[in-house]
Amino acid sequence: MRTIRTVPEMRAWLGNLRAENRSVGLVPTMGAFHAGHHSLMRAAKDEQDAVVVSLFVNPTQFNDARDLENYPRSEANDAVEASELGVDVLFAPPTSEIYPDGFATTVSVGGLSEVLEGAERGPGHFAGVCTVVCKLLNIVSPDAAYFGQKDAQQVAVVKRMVRDLDIPSKIEVLPTVREPDGLAMSSRNVRLSPEERQDALQLSRALFAARDAVAGGERDAERVRAVALAHLDDPEYLAIVDPLSFTPLTTIAAPALIAVAARVGPVRLIDNLVLEPV
Ligand code: PAJ
Repeated sequence: MRTIRTVPEMRAWLGNLRAENRSVGLVPTMGAFHAGHHSLMRAAKDEQDAVVVSLFVNPTQFNDARDLENYPRSEANDAVEASELGVDVLFAPPTSEIYPDGFATTVSVGGLSEVLEGAERGPGHFAGVCTVVCKLLNIVSPDAAYFGQKDAQQVAVVKRMVRDLDIPSKIEVLPTVREPDGLAMSSRNVRLSPEERQDALQLSRALFAARDAVAGGERDAERVRAVALAHLDDPEYLAIVDPLSFTPLTTIAAPALIAVAARVGPVRLIDNLVLEPV
């Protein structure tokens, strides 16, 4: 596996690959890999001839300077793991390569970016995500880019951007990978104390209780929400929404997304589940 740090080097490597007509998969990440990231790399490896994993802790999507400062960084270890999974290139540019002096362009998706995560973290969060993902898609021009359902709103926003801007890459979405006890894997989980780690289970427990209520025949969104809320201390939000538009639902008549955000100790955690009224 090669580590590449500049856009021209990345383009040169891709040029050789394209000359051989080989397909490319891109897995955008901020590093500190866990099994969720690994599943995206495996899917890309299965489906494409070559895999590029980007590792860039994107400052423009952090609304909280302390969160950016405390974000776990472990590039050497990440490189070993990516290499073991058969990744061809780790694209790990410095901030100045992505945001050179005078950088002045922002890509933002209206509406969708303003609710739930967008409302809590501020409208700049998804603009930061979209701007960097747009740049990565332009730099790599992958046949497909791989994202996790763990960040359901990010997936919806990125899909909308790709459609609206005619970006010719397919967006593939892989299921949320969980710890055996249900906690959704997250790079931020390493910052939880053993006690907070237990407390963090309230998110997945709330979602699973909602899923059980829907499986038991409940279709009223407010009652399903109440079942889930009983497991949560003081969530930032708990919402049942349309999975594409993120507008709130009153009735669960088609697959619906239940999404939660809560602060546990020093960490802000998010999780979600699709509720299937079958
Ligand atoms: P990061 O948090 O590193 O996540 C990289 C990818 O891994 C995202 O698509 C995310 O949804 C996915 N992922 C995280 N936890 C997962 C889990 N438990 N199961 C499955 N997939 C999981 O998301 C970002 O980085 C950034 O916003 C990025 C898209 C790279 C733009 O900066």
